[in-house]
Amino acid sequence: MTSGADKLSVAVLRGGTSAEREVSLNTGEQVSRALGERGHAVTCLDTADLVFIEALRTGGFDVVFICLHGRFGEDGTVQGLLELLGLPYVGSGVLASALAMDKVMSKHIFRAEGIRTPDSVVLRAGETPDFGAIVSRLGEKVVVKPVSEGSSVGMSIVHEPAELPDAVSLAFEHDRTVLVEAFVAGAEVTVGVVGNNDPVALPTLEVVPEHEFYDYESKYVPGMSAHIIPARVSEEARAECQRVALHAHRALDCRGMSRADTIVTATGEVYLLEVNTIPGMTSTSLLPDAARAAGIEFPELCERLVRLALER
Ligand SMILES: Nc1ncnc2c1ncn2[C@@H]1O[C@H](COP(=O)(O)OP(=O)(O)O)[C@@H](O)[C@H]1O
Ligand SMILES: [Mg+2]
Repeated sequence: MTSGADKLSVAVLRGGTSAEREVSLNTGEQVSRALGERGHAVTCLDTADLVFIEALRTGGFDVVFICLHGRFGEDGTVQGLLELLGLPYVGSGVLASALAMDKVMSKHIFRAEGIRTPDSVVLRAGETPDFGAIVSRLGEKVVVKPVSEGSSVGMSIVHEPAELPDAVSLAFEHDRTVLVEAFVAGAEVTVGVVGNNDPVALPTLEVVPEHEFYDYESKYVPGMSAHIIPARVSEEARAECQRVALHAHRALDCRGMSRADTIVTATGEVYLLEVNTIPGMTSTSLLPDAARAAGIEFPELCERLVRLALER
């Protein structure tokens, strides 16, 4: 419990208009409850209605916990608004949020930093893709993703070249830029990172989806994926995953928290897929699960994140 002097007025931003609205409502609900349990005064604001801006401006909040995923929340836009309003907030700033949200831009940074990430081709709306060239470069099995969506929205795994054009069209329904990545076979290992200047990596968590990949349903329907902590890969590969997650957190200049999604091949090579700056934060989500394995219960995790936001 928090003593009177430490009691904070916290605004929790949730909902919004992105493809991940439902997830965000759930995250916001659980974070609010956890912070309430810690003795803080919590106000939930749904960002789908822009009156939330006025509420933030006049509400006298000490800190804002952004529980929004995807566009207009995880991408730097809301972070920019909070900078203008002079309100401290949980998580990364404008630039890190925008970079991490854009899978093409973040891959530029990973490559420049020597972090291994799957080989890829970028397609832009209006250009005619050379499907033959894509297949000869990346192989027949590829993953097609809209550049700025999360939660596997608009994404497909392509098993043979004939499926590629439809997969690309689907991704273009969600974004002007589409990423085609070489498929990397291996264990899916995700690593949460918590901290500002001296971040620490949480234990590795292996995700075992019921479906072929960690799609929307696997992520949000209970029982559709198993979490195994630590990941069933070698000791060295686990350490490498944690090293990569910390390296990526620093390279993108993330603050507060992040979660790196990686694939570990049978030979122990670690490929970084992406960094999430506002990972799922229900009590059974990946980062909170890993934190619990490290002895940090969910309310304590939320409390720490709020304290990290105020540290700046
Ligand atoms: N290059 C790849 N090779 C193999 N599987 C992949 C690859 N890229 C993505 N996946 C699968 O798709 C899931 C979602 O991809 P990811 O890049 O993390 O995007 P997001 O989580 O933002 O939708 C991953 O967790 C993994 O299951
Ligand atoms: Mg992911």
